[in-house]
Amino acid sequence: MRVISNDGYSIKRVTLLNSKGGSGKSILATNIASIFSANNLRTTLIDYDPQGTAIRWLKQRPELFPAIHGIDATQQSSATTRSWQMRVPAGTDRLVIDTPAGIRGLELNDFVVNSDYILIPVIPPDGDIHATTKLIADLLLNVKIRSLDVKVAVIGNRVKKNTKILNQLTRFLQQVDFPFISNLRDTQNYVTAAKQGIGIHEIYPPSLVKKDVSDWDAILQFVEDGETLHDHKELPQPLMPEHQQTSS
Ligand SMILES: Nc1ncnc2c1ncn2[C@@H]1O[C@H](COP(=O)(O)OP(=O)(O)OP(=O)(O)O)[C@@H](O)[C@H]1O
Ligand SMILES: [Mg+2]
Repeated sequence: MRVISNDGYSIKRVTLLNSKGGSGKSILATNIASIFSANNLRTTLIDYDPQGTAIRWLKQRPELFPAIHGIDATQQSSATTRSWQMRVPAGTDRLVIDTPAGIRGLELNDFVVNSDYILIPVIPPDGDIHATTKLIADLLLNVKIRSLDVKVAVIGNRVKKNTKILNQLTRFLQQVDFPFISNLRDTQNYVTAAKQGIGIHEIYPPSLVKKDVSDWDAILQFVEDGETLHDHKELPQPLMPEHQQTSS
């Protein structure tokens, strides 16, 4: 089920979910939103987390960079109705939905029903993988029971390669037939970008983030049904301080 906006556009909804706190939901939400917008896709980022990480990120976003519309789903303004506040701008192509930690049960069900793609960032824990496998089992049940047309994938975050726990998780995902589509490195690049309201692919110079940007190819392929995004806009270059500018 796709959301159709007032003007007849089909909106693709990508939801970041993991009941475990700090697994990388907001980092993924903000990066994927900035990649969509850099690809000329009109993007709205909805933050369901009272911590407001995604909305804070958006407030930092420099005007020079491709615009992203933000909706804070946790605020109820007395001046507007909820449906007005949650209104997605006409012509929106992509909705990116950031969710809080601790989502389960009926709430999980709501997010599943209202998504086209669910991405689960997982930091393979040092110890018990029970919490992660429980969320995946719940999702699987939910998606299967409802025969929903929602695609779910796991993304490893801050992954230490070749660890026993990663092997366990990979085996579990193979058993339940969930794709494990990418591993994101543990790097300050994500922290630096997050502070500035940009995605890692918007960091300058691009050579700093070459390795990390390529980790997103498989994620984009997944949410774009295997199609590659074209029509890359030229990213704005940071302005040089006046004394560095050469006169022509
Ligand atoms: N790949 C990474 N490399 C380095 N730091 C990361 C990476 N992914 C996330 N972080 C950092 O880890 C912290 C938690 O990430 P994030 O806020 O995205 O998690 P979350 O799942 O949204 O957390 P919460 O459940 O509290 O909303 C943040 O400070 C973020 O900058
Ligand atoms: Mg978060």
